[in-house]
Amino acid sequence: MKRSGNIKTGPERISYKINNGEKLHSKFSRTLVTAALPYANGPIHLGHLAGAYLPADIYVRYLRLKGEDVIFICGSDEHGVPITITADKEGVTPQQIVDRYHSMNKDSFTQFGMSFDNYSRTTLPIHHQTGQEFFLEFYRQKLLVEKSEKQLYCEKDRMFLADRYVEGTCPVCGNTEARGDQCEKCGTWLEQTQLIDPKCKICGTTPVVRETKHWYFPLGKFQKQLEEYVDSKKWKENVRSYVDSWLKQGLEDRAVTRDLHWGIPVPLQGYENKVLYVWFEAVLGYISSTKELSQKKGDPNFWKKYWQNDETRYIAFIGKDNIVFHTLIFPAMLMAWNEGGKSRYVLPDAVPANEFLNFEGKKFSKSRSWGIDLKDFIEVFPADALRYALALNLPESRDSDFYWKDFQARVNNELADTLGNFVNRTLQFIQRYYDGKIPERGKLSELDKWAAGEMKEAPDKVGKLFEAFKFRDGVVEAMSLARAANKYFNDSEPWKSRNDNPVQCATTLNICAQLARSLAILLSPVIPFAAEEIWKMLALDGLASTAAWNSAAEMSVEAGKQIGHVKILFTKIEDTTIEEQINKTTNTIGPEVKAAVPSTAPIKAQITIDDFRKVDLRVARILNCEKVPKSEKLLRIEVRIGEEKRQIIAGISKHYKPEDLVGKNVIVVANLASAKLMGLESNGMLLAASTEDGKLSILTTASDIDSGSIVR
Ligand code: MF3
Ligand code: ZN
Repeated sequence: MKRSGNIKTGPERISYKINNGEKLHSKFSRTLVTAALPYANGPIHLGHLAGAYLPADIYVRYLRLKGEDVIFICGSDEHGVPITITADKEGVTPQQIVDRYHSMNKDSFTQFGMSFDNYSRTTLPIHHQTGQEFFLEFYRQKLLVEKSEKQLYCEKDRMFLADRYVEGTCPVCGNTEARGDQCEKCGTWLEQTQLIDPKCKICGTTPVVRETKHWYFPLGKFQKQLEEYVDSKKWKENVRSYVDSWLKQGLEDRAVTRDLHWGIPVPLQGYENKVLYVWFEAVLGYISSTKELSQKKGDPNFWKKYWQNDETRYIAFIGKDNIVFHTLIFPAMLMAWNEGGKSRYVLPDAVPANEFLNFEGKKFSKSRSWGIDLKDFIEVFPADALRYALALNLPESRDSDFYWKDFQARVNNELADTLGNFVNRTLQFIQRYYDGKIPERGKLSELDKWAAGEMKEAPDKVGKLFEAFKFRDGVVEAMSLARAANKYFNDSEPWKSRNDNPVQCATTLNICAQLARSLAILLSPVIPFAAEEIWKMLALDGLASTAAWNSAAEMSVEAGKQIGHVKILFTKIEDTTIEEQINKTTNTIGPEVKAAVPSTAPIKAQITIDDFRKVDLRVARILNCEKVPKSEKLLRIEVRIGEEKRQIIAGISKHYKPEDLVGKNVIVVANLASAKLMGLESNGMLLAASTEDGKLSILTTASDIDSGSIVR
């Protein structure tokens, strides 16, 4: 089969009809929805929810209410180097790390109301099989290319070192803590083998350079086919612009194997110590999670109905950092599979990626305790409050912010005062004056007709926005029906008409009950728990399992029906509660101070006092100093430590003039192994404080302390 020409063109744009029972997209009979598999390497925070999970859940809940055939797939991404690093730091196994975060994240997702049909894990055998099956299929097709490369190998730990497992001196700026792939100080991208004096981060010994072999997926071969595929879709603008820039750069071969002990073993002889690259297999986790769901259902072929069927519309919800993997790499993998003559997979029809959510004006940061995890949030506030506030703040086309004050205002003014108040006063009134029975409607006044008209139009308006992935606008639209309902109640003044015009009063309350039912339906994708409460108060059952969406346009609550127990839907959030949260989640220093500290590196693993005593810190007097020729950053410094004279090369030329340093007392690491920088020997290291935005200040002492003095 030729590489091009077999791509499906996109769906006809949404051909939406209001009629019950008619399909949303004429071409498709079912929808497969996936949400990015979060790493089981830390807790879920609000940024994740706003990026992918909440929009995905709103979408799926909406489709279910429309009576569509939809499944919603997710799970934990449990492989990759960062997980092994977390495990090393804690002195536990990677399995223990993923067990902990898989169950933590699964639980908090449940509490948040995520309605996954399956939440799987990539450490399961079914996933390992799936990953290996794809790899072997590409191998069989002779698509994979084997390449040799030089990599650092630790003879003590007997393994090739992933980039984050090596540290050394940056050849450009002299930073002694540069990583295998990048020097964070000067920003230079590095090859491991360029590091001066590299060290294994696990055991501290010096690794050797060895040849290693890896398999590459020829992404470049799919360039044209991917361009056609992307052109056939109408993707969100923010997504499309990322994709275009990747395509413009040109796609290159990507390594699909890694030298690592944690992951899916490469199923080839001679590759026993290698695993599949985490991004190669993680995306296949969507498929294996669906297979796991099939097993649970006792219907082994169930997954094929979604993955291997042209009538499926596949939507992949992700955050913006995952765009290239879902719009180009995963589709290319599926295209490659599809050319092998086996059953064909569907490709994503839409990849509605969101941008980032910031927290109180800055990026979420675990190490700086800036932000809040879902788990902690849900202990204090109801899930619906968070879902609602996030929905109105989704970073759908650009980055957005979560502010505590905004959260409080949304909950108090909109959920409590508008929606909660309307439902409550309606049902209280019916309880008190009609013995809890829905009153009969009479002839409709102009005002009644207006309210009924608002209700009639709402499901279509909201639905169209959800279908276009405009969740923010969709929720605003649904909430505007609640505003209209409140206004209708006020303008109708049933507390007066109860005496003056009982027929009108009964009509008003009947319509209010209809509005409450409609609001429950329209808002249930975003606030499912409260919607279910309203449903119960109206003595209806199982909103989530009803294809009720279109009926939100109609007056279907019957007169005479006995309502259930009336409860308060939302309680207001006190100022003190919010202040407490602000203090907790923005750390002890306020945002203004924090702004001056753009990022604080995480504190390293604990050491003992004996570890510390190994470092011999001394006061040194600077005798002479000059710039190192041809270097922008390095200074050659002569110091005296007691009786001894030494030369130290330091990367501080951007911050100090040589003449300013002469005569100063500085602190040096006196027992550091010597190193060569630009051909010059450096014996010791000068201590300085630095920030990631490039400020630097050397540590000095008063001049009346003798050089050679011990610092402890
Ligand atoms: N674990 C990745 C992240 O959190 C997302 C993986 S999405 C998948 O960024 F498709 F690869 F699973
Ligand atoms: Zn080592």
